[in-house]
Amino acid sequence: MSPHRRILVTSALPYANGPIHIGHLVEYIQTDIWVRYQKMRGHECWYVCADDAHGTAIMLRAEQEGVTPEALIDQVWASHRRDFAGFNVAFDNYHTTHSPENRAISALIYTRLRDAGHTAVRTIRQAYDPLKQLFLPDRFIRGTCPRCAAPDQYGDNCEQCGGTYAPTDLIDAVSALSGVPPVQRESEHVFFCLGHFEAVLRDWLTRSDLQPGVVNKLEEWFAVGLQDWDISRDAPYFGFEIPDLPGKYFYVWLDAPIGYFASFRHLCDRVGLDFETFVKPQSTTELYHFIGKDIMYFHTLFWPAMLHGANFRLPTNVFVHGFLTVDGQKMSKSRGTFITARTYLDHLNPECLRYYFAAKLGPGIDDIDLNLEDFQARVNADLVGKVVNIASRCAAFIRRDFGGNLAADDDEPALLASLRAAREDIAHCFEARDYARAMREVMALADRVNQYIDRRKPWVIAKDPSARAELARVCSTGLRAFRLLMIYLKPVVPALVAEAERFLRCAPLTWAALDLALPPQEIAPFTPLLTRIEKAKVEAMLDASKPTVPNPSGTPPPAPAGTTLAPPASASGVAEVPEVPEIGIDDFAKVDLRIARVTTARHVEGADKLVQLELDVGGEQRTVFAGIKQAYAPAALEGRLVVLVANLAPRKMRFGLSQGMVLAASGSESGIFLLNADAGALPGMRVK
Ligand code: MSP
Ligand code: ZN
Repeated sequence: MSPHRRILVTSALPYANGPIHIGHLVEYIQTDIWVRYQKMRGHECWYVCADDAHGTAIMLRAEQEGVTPEALIDQVWASHRRDFAGFNVAFDNYHTTHSPENRAISALIYTRLRDAGHTAVRTIRQAYDPLKQLFLPDRFIRGTCPRCAAPDQYGDNCEQCGGTYAPTDLIDAVSALSGVPPVQRESEHVFFCLGHFEAVLRDWLTRSDLQPGVVNKLEEWFAVGLQDWDISRDAPYFGFEIPDLPGKYFYVWLDAPIGYFASFRHLCDRVGLDFETFVKPQSTTELYHFIGKDIMYFHTLFWPAMLHGANFRLPTNVFVHGFLTVDGQKMSKSRGTFITARTYLDHLNPECLRYYFAAKLGPGIDDIDLNLEDFQARVNADLVGKVVNIASRCAAFIRRDFGGNLAADDDEPALLASLRAAREDIAHCFEARDYARAMREVMALADRVNQYIDRRKPWVIAKDPSARAELARVCSTGLRAFRLLMIYLKPVVPALVAEAERFLRCAPLTWAALDLALPPQEIAPFTPLLTRIEKAKVEAMLDASKPTVPNPSGTPPPAPAGTTLAPPASASGVAEVPEVPEIGIDDFAKVDLRIARVTTARHVEGADKLVQLELDVGGEQRTVFAGIKQAYAPAALEGRLVVLVANLAPRKMRFGLSQGMVLAASGSESGIFLLNADAGALPGMRVK
């Protein structure tokens, strides 16, 4: 048994002025997997985060929308929480930096730094917008690049040539807020003397196990020399007023990392934990910050220095990850690859992205790419094809032939032993954040289980009435192997595993459950735990992410006349072909047509046109209400192969949810004619 650890973990605090997107999710999913793993090991691990609610950008956006900053951040906070919950990111506390706890701890840290002589007040000259009457952050000054003469560049760097410069060097600079040229104005600012902490930081660097990429960066910064840091801003500013300096506010990046402690303080008060134990110098607890590589300077220099100067413990480590690209490029609104968490959730299962990120995330700080074709292929091949498939291959026999009861004995205990033997390796990978390697190992184990099933062929054994016990043993071994894989995958796909726990009727799986055996109990009927990602869904998600789409919510327009539900009348009895625009093959490819088998067909109480169809679409079950009752008796439909529009948005009807549409030719007098497939077609086959 490893000793009991007490761990506090954070992810960077997302800005409260925009939605969570899939780039952010790299970090929250990476952290959540690590935290879930620690909890499964039985350690005490607390995961806190918050919205980063202060600063000029948020103040201006609120003004633009005609609301108070408080109203804006409340609304964004609620939407961030929904998004994180949607991706099963399980914070123990999600707070905001605009909180009483943060105000108190920020004031405490500031006064301690000041009293210890680590701050200095100096007068600086700065760009000021005389019309808006505020000092302008560099990002709010635009002008012509002094290097390459590109027009309309930011005050601190040029997107054309990549040059960096002082805003005063910009040619024809104007305020991005009012369009008037800024003037230079003097103002007093408070600086944090970072240079006082060089020895402390160098010592921290050698004592903590920082990633090599982080160490290199720090060495570079030490070589350049540590500069004092301006931690104050003039009114108007949305933030905390500095206690002894009325009209001056803490710069957002001063109170943002303190927000980690504030969120934890809030948690401590809520659940009765001792805050000091975790934050005092020489604490025996562990503290980890997960961040992206763009905010390393704040977390590996300013933050540890502030902590030390104010007599708090230093982080045990700062875990840095790279940036997400989509199909090899920066996320882009015009390409539809700036995908928000919400848009993703509207189209796809969050567990798929969690798995994919895990399969790509190593311990380093390299960027990671979401290649959408690879995403679909990988999830379908690994999670659906290898893992879930094990359960569906074995469960059916156990239900059908043994009333759901597992056998007491296993057919091949050595298979289960070999799965268990991987535990230390996989544990080490999770601990070291090498999830890519952990997933490779788990998939290699899943391969082994599938090979076992292929070798033992339960579908052949099932034909031999004298081999009942053998069949039960083989399928039970398969399901027990599946349970072990579920343990290894639980940090990554917790919702999928929760479904599996229900299906296996076992207690919530922990790492220690590797030592337990699944008793000869009755399992629940198997329902597909995960279905394949369809290309059309991925494409619909990209479409919905493009700014020009007139219908970005993803809801389809109302069904046009001429569907099977309301055939239009015409003199000939044949429906007139309505005027429809010509489409390309790409448009047609967006319609996902599938062969489906009608497993049951029923009358619908109170509906004189509808038949309720239960369809088998190759392992997936669908319910569809079709307006074909005048032409078909339900009993005549059972067993028939039909063509289903599988990616039609589900439609809520008075009688239930209709998950797709069955194709039929129709005319008011000549009747309704279902399309069917020639014998030999299999449910789930694509029609094109
Ligand atoms: N508010 C600051 C953090 C303050 S922490 C005391 C901030 N917010 S952010 O919303 O811009 O980013 C939050 C986190 O998401 C950061 O760690 C950032 O690196 C990460 N990411 C934002 N976009 C990302 C990608 N495209 N890819 C990977 N991570 C990304 O910075
Ligand atoms: Zn330039």
